[in-house]
Amino acid sequence: MSKLPPALQKPSLPVIGSPLFIISNPQLVIEQCKAGIVGSMPALNARPAEQLDDWLAEITETLAAWDKAHPESPSAPFAINQIVHKSNDRLEHDMQICAKYKVPIVITSLGAREDVNQAVHSWGGIVLHDIINNKFAHKAIEKGADGLIAVAAGAGGHAGVKSPFALIQEIRQWFDGPLALSGSIASGGAILAAQAMGADFAYIGSAFIATHEARAIDAYKQAIVEGNSDDIVYSNLFTGVHGNYLAQSIRAAGLDPDNLPESDPSKMNFGGDAKKAWKDIWGCGQGIGSITEVTSTAELVARLRREYQQARERLALG
Ligand SMILES: Cc1cc2nc3c(=O)[nH]c(=O)nc-3n(C[C@H](O)[C@H](O)[C@H](O)COP(=O)(O)O)c2cc1C
Repeated sequence: MSKLPPALQKPSLPVIGSPLFIISNPQLVIEQCKAGIVGSMPALNARPAEQLDDWLAEITETLAAWDKAHPESPSAPFAINQIVHKSNDRLEHDMQICAKYKVPIVITSLGAREDVNQAVHSWGGIVLHDIINNKFAHKAIEKGADGLIAVAAGAGGHAGVKSPFALIQEIRQWFDGPLALSGSIASGGAILAAQAMGADFAYIGSAFIATHEARAIDAYKQAIVEGNSDDIVYSNLFTGVHGNYLAQSIRAAGLDPDNLPESDPSKMNFGGDAKKAWKDIWGCGQGIGSITEVTSTAELVARLRREYQQARERLALG
């Protein structure tokens, strides 16, 4: 494990609640941070763009009030996700709002940009960049990211094809900075396993869709409760980049999940139109077999914390 910058020393459980397009919202982020894990959301979830200012005011004010009232269990820091792809025409505006609130952690996806990293550093924030292979990991660090999120096979949303073992081993040969592991983590034992492999944090997304705070329809939450890894399909049809989705939603859209065509790369889009694609097709990772009920975010984190502690005791780690 690496020496972590101050912001990343604060979580009381080594978990980052990952950004979820459309689904993450201030309530989810606030509850994640109050529960002691890093909470996050994509800037693009605030629509229209002006709403981001209100959302960041709500998050920062609520967490400051929580910290004042609960000095014994202060909140973990929050993160904002920026899609650094040319189709995101809001990036400049959203970065200005992040600067206004001195967002402590920025998570960048779909492209690494030196100017974005420098801007975050100028207000004292840190940047974590998500990657699916060692080559992109090198590029991200060369361009000034502070830490990496290794997105392994089985992750919800855009995902890679690498075994988490392969990815972490390769990255840890040359990188000793902050490293999170993403893909199918949904139990306390898996969080400890990520640390044992060399990651500093487990990066968890799909499990949080089945919470009361998540902005997803009940059928989606229920599909996660009832589903397991057999229900997950890997395809690049919906955004042009390969990702994992619930087969049930693909069937409901009139497509055969076992015979999906390849996407047309010229139609890649992560801006406004992406919302349409993601609304009816449900992104989801392979780890949902361990999600058996829809709970509050606080209850989910409490379960992960309990299981994490049990796993430590089982291995006599104290
Ligand atoms: C529905 C859904 C939406 C996602 N949206 C984003 C996003 O907007 N930005 C991003 O960086 N990652 C996004 N992801 C990827 C997650 O942040 C994370 O890598 C993934 O959920 C981790 O794997 P898990 O779902 O198996 O826990 C999304 C994942 C899902 C399931």
